[in-house]
Amino acid sequence: MLKIMANFSKYSTYSALSQCSCTISTLRAMLSNKAKSLSKSKHIICAVLVLALSFNANAASSSIFIPQNEWSFEGKVGTYWDSDQLLRGYKVATQVCLSCHSMKYFNHREMLKLGFSKDQIKVLAKDLEMDINSALFSELDPKDAKEAYGVVPPDLSIITKGRPDGVNYVKALMLGYEETPEDFDGTNYNKYFAGNNIAMPSQLEDGMIEYFDGSLENKEQYAKDVAAFLAFAADPKRIERQNLGVGVLFFVIMFAILTYLTKRQIWKDVK
Ligand code: HEC
Repeated sequence: MLKIMANFSKYSTYSALSQCSCTISTLRAMLSNKAKSLSKSKHIICAVLVLALSFNANAASSSIFIPQNEWSFEGKVGTYWDSDQLLRGYKVATQVCLSCHSMKYFNHREMLKLGFSKDQIKVLAKDLEMDINSALFSELDPKDAKEAYGVVPPDLSIITKGRPDGVNYVKALMLGYEETPEDFDGTNYNKYFAGNNIAMPSQLEDGMIEYFDGSLENKEQYAKDVAAFLAFAADPKRIERQNLGVGVLFFVIMFAILTYLTKRQIWKDVK
């Protein structure tokens, strides 16, 4: 049903486009006053129609509901990196995902930000036969991947930024595999992947990875932890930035109060 809606809205966008022959670039041209000779009102109506319909199409095609989660690093105040969770996620990412996906914008040095010591991080990197500055490249050659799966698995280091609602999406995607419906003509069925047909087979199994802190060793927990780790990999400065924002806000408020009190003090005898 949703797919039909999406197709319908896309179809109406295209038909509106062809009927009006009025594109977004025309709208831009008009805004910069380069198209004075155009019949403005007609084109404005068309452009608004096309924009409205394309928003509608986007809304409909991305309207698969992605379950939301609580993350220690999301929110306005009091956010932090849960270093235990991220280390668990690191285990999942390096023991499972790295066999197909690279994480070329991530290196072990980033984990210093989580409070691990250099020696601890060296041990982790050494386990993967890497040093702490090397990018995480998968051993799977892109050519072989293409042959095996038909597509090259995307780099995961910034994937949570590359998809809408990325961190919740990655978790959902890991858990979204379902029995292939009868009329399904594809490889693996995943209810959260656009179009449902995904080249990546289901990855997580209960108990496949041992944890060190008594956390549950099941699919759900692995999926959540690996998503959190990928959110960290994509934006390791996130918490610093949030804290800076809160600090600045605090300073501005204090400064405003001080200014007000000073003003009262200075003007108190002038009535
Ligand atoms: C056996 C190889 C393999 C492993 C292991 C693997 N993936 Fe994938 N992954 C793929 C392939 C192939 C694709 C491309 C899917 C497509 O475009 O149909 C993919 C795509 C993805 C995508 C992108 C989906 C999108 O929206 O385009 C994400 C996110 C992802 N994988 C996460 C993971 C995570 C997290 C792990 C580890 C828990 C993992 N993958 C392990 C093969 C793998």
